[in-house]
Amino acid sequence: MTIQWFPGHMAKARRQVTEKLKLIDIVYELVDARIPVSSRNPMIDEIISNKPRIILLNKADMADAKVTREWLDYFNLPGSSTKAIAIDSQTGKGIQQIATLSKELLKEKFDKMQSRGIRPRAIRALIVGIPNVGKSTLINRLAKKNIAQTGDRPGVTKAQQWVKVGKELELLDTPGILWPKFEDQEVGYRLATTGAIKDTIINLQDIAVFALRFLTDAYPERLKDRYGLEEIPEDIVELFDAIGSKRGCKMSGGHIDYDKTAELVIREIRSEKLGKISLERPEKL
Ligand code: G4P
Repeated sequence: MTIQWFPGHMAKARRQVTEKLKLIDIVYELVDARIPVSSRNPMIDEIISNKPRIILLNKADMADAKVTREWLDYFNLPGSSTKAIAIDSQTGKGIQQIATLSKELLKEKFDKMQSRGIRPRAIRALIVGIPNVGKSTLINRLAKKNIAQTGDRPGVTKAQQWVKVGKELELLDTPGILWPKFEDQEVGYRLATTGAIKDTIINLQDIAVFALRFLTDAYPERLKDRYGLEEIPEDIVELFDAIGSKRGCKMSGGHIDYDKTAELVIREIRSEKLGKISLERPEKL
């Protein structure tokens, strides 16, 4: 589901997250491991401000493991109250680290509470992230049952409920939904390449041009292997022609069908036919 964000929606989403922050000890910021910056909300630091936070690089199963390690080093700065871990919410890989790390980050606060005679309680957490990043999948995985409605919308209010994750952790059952940074065209293309935003919002051929240029630069061998290319043509139209003709994307009369070629390339990237790909690296920031 893609939400069309307007200034009113953004303000409302921000208000809703800010309200929820009052109830919790720690924030789990879910990002897509393939695009950890483009899948972040541009105002996240300001919105979360002084809460401890764990950045969860979700969908790590689809990302380039080497690049994910670079991102973990980038985010896990020593001494910072923000930490990052890589997870796969669909299978649950890595998610057991969430509770352990939360306890570490909150130890001081909870020890203080205890020394003041406050009865020990579970850590309370909120999951936030842009649409499609996997928030509902993670809540369900942590809760080991079906709780979060995939595709719930900002603006739909209902009573807040806590979801128990073992004895020591509780999650708010509705995640905080935030908007991505659309002003930047590259960010839009990266989000579109991973399927985080609807294909109708950005022209499919434009997404494929972006993706093919990226692959030419970052993963040339995989591009050559997948489409049986000896060399990658520099000219993007020639590259479309080469892929389209190899894969039979033609119109009547034999001309290359660029829409079909674009659709094929995007579909194959998303279904990992070109392997595990990360579209952003920390060194390029
Ligand atoms: P949201 O609440 O943040 O909006 O996201 P949601 O959980 O609905 O997840 C969006 C899509 O991402 C879902 O696919 C979900 O299965 C997939 N997903 C979530 N976490 C992971 C992960 O760690 N690894 C992988 N590979 N996929 C993950 P879907 O229901 O099939 O939707 P779609 O593919 O049709 O968009």
